[in-house]
Amino acid sequence: MRTDILATGVAAIIAGAFVVAGASGVYAQAKKTVPLELTGDAAARPWKRYPGWPVADYSKYNTLGQLASAPAPKEPRKIVGPVTGDAANGAKLVADRTRGGSCLACHVMGPAGNADLPGNVAPDLSEIGNAGREDEWLFNYVYDARVYNPVTVMPPWGSHGFFSEAEIKDIVAFLKTLKSPAVFKTELDNPEKRPPPVEKRDNLDPIENPGMWAVDKGQELWKEKSAQGFSCNTCHSDPAVSFKTWAASMPKWEPRLNKVLGVEEFVTRHAKATTGVDWPMETDNNRAMSVYLHFIANGTPIKIDTESDGAKAAIARGLELTKRKIGQLNMACTDCHGIAVNHWIRGQWMGEPKGQYDHFPTWRTSLLAIWDIRQRFQWCSVNIRGDELPPDAKEYGDLELYLASQNEGLKLSVPGIRH
Ligand code: HEC
Ligand code: HEC
Ligand code: HEC
Repeated sequence: MRTDILATGVAAIIAGAFVVAGASGVYAQAKKTVPLELTGDAAARPWKRYPGWPVADYSKYNTLGQLASAPAPKEPRKIVGPVTGDAANGAKLVADRTRGGSCLACHVMGPAGNADLPGNVAPDLSEIGNAGREDEWLFNYVYDARVYNPVTVMPPWGSHGFFSEAEIKDIVAFLKTLKSPAVFKTELDNPEKRPPPVEKRDNLDPIENPGMWAVDKGQELWKEKSAQGFSCNTCHSDPAVSFKTWAASMPKWEPRLNKVLGVEEFVTRHAKATTGVDWPMETDNNRAMSVYLHFIANGTPIKIDTESDGAKAAIARGLELTKRKIGQLNMACTDCHGIAVNHWIRGQWMGEPKGQYDHFPTWRTSLLAIWDIRQRFQWCSVNIRGDELPPDAKEYGDLELYLASQNEGLKLSVPGIRH
């Protein structure tokens, strides 16, 4: 682009006529259509996973972008005679966090649970050995529970390659030894008694919330001139007034891009089209500006376009995506954020879906970093051993619009603080 357009536009502004009636070209038009760079991606390609995240390749499994996982088996595997495995090895395997996160993430399992903060998403199996289950049932339930329950949230431990058949037999042998109620050493070990965490969330206190750096940085960037001599301030000298509520109206369906645009992608594309700077998503300047734009709108209830045809269709797609099974663990967003709400997944308390959006971008106290909503989507995917998509993926836009629609009415409170 764009110096030509900028020159005309900026000249008009400098002449004190920002909205020049009849001004030729982009500026008159721009008042209706916000300038956006419409070509190219808004994030790095090929997308590279963040440093420190698991390096494994999950390309054999579904992502939010494509279906790749093998179909569920149709029949249970035949098991002839009793399963005789090594129960002691089974006891180790059920608690092995390196093999998919361990059974204890969801089940209490008698003696295996202590000191590992078992979860309570799933039935307590401490007495499964008395329940009269056939060995074939136990084997297949662990191998791939979908043969008995197509909508199970339990991962297909055998079909998706977490455990070999021999190892699953060891697990079954261990399950058969479970015949007495769990005894917890402390109340914290018992997920029914463990108190939900209380987080300190005074997010606008810069001492408690180091994420406030981004607000200061965003303010600086607002006035910083690009190589072409323009800053945001050139065209918007009073952002705290002009954009007092704007971020609470985002994300929105953007017909020119044929996708949902969130604040972060807007910043990349609008900056490129106006000041000319390159601020890809998930880089510090983009984060700072995005946090600042949200911050200005703090206290404004989220109110987005849910009515236009484009928005309606995107919300419907987003809802579908929350139910798609992804990754090696073969879980859907709703498997944790629906069924597991107000339960423990191992030591992690699952909060309500309402309230999951109003505080993004958010400061992660456990990571000393700001995450925007797209990075959260990426982590929840990688955490269930599925490949993440680039942050500007269309699917994340659909998901973000759906999530925002679920959070309408909540007041923006950015940067939030979360563990
Ligand atoms: C993500 C949560 C989750 C994890 C992790 C999980 N399960 Fe399950 N499991 C469930 C749920 C929920 C059920 C209840 C039935 C259902 O929904 O299919 C279940 C049911 C079972 C059953 C059937 C119980 C019965 O009454 O017959 C067995 C056996 C079982 N799980 C074993 C395991 C083993 C062994 C592991 C680890 C290798 C494991 N589970 C890990 C969620 C989980
Ligand atoms: C060359 C002029 C120009 C520059 C420089 C500029 N903008 Fe804009 N911006 C516009 C125009 C024109 C619009 C659409 C009319 C309006 O809302 O003022 C707009 C709209 C916006 C909006 C509202 C978008 C919407 O959906 O309604 C935001 C937020 C915004 N700009 C932020 C920024 C930021 C951040 C920067 C610095 C990276 C910046 N602008 C730089 C011209 C500019
Ligand atoms: C294995 C369980 C699991 C699955 C599956 C999962 N998440 Fe999460 N998610 C979590 C946990 C644990 C947290 C952190 C605790 C919390 O904030 O509730 C979290 C947090 C989040 C948050 C931030 C909530 C907040 O208030 O800060 C969002 C948004 C989110 N997940 C979206 C998704 C989406 C979208 C999917 C599907 C692609 C998904 N999650 C799949 C476990 C899961």
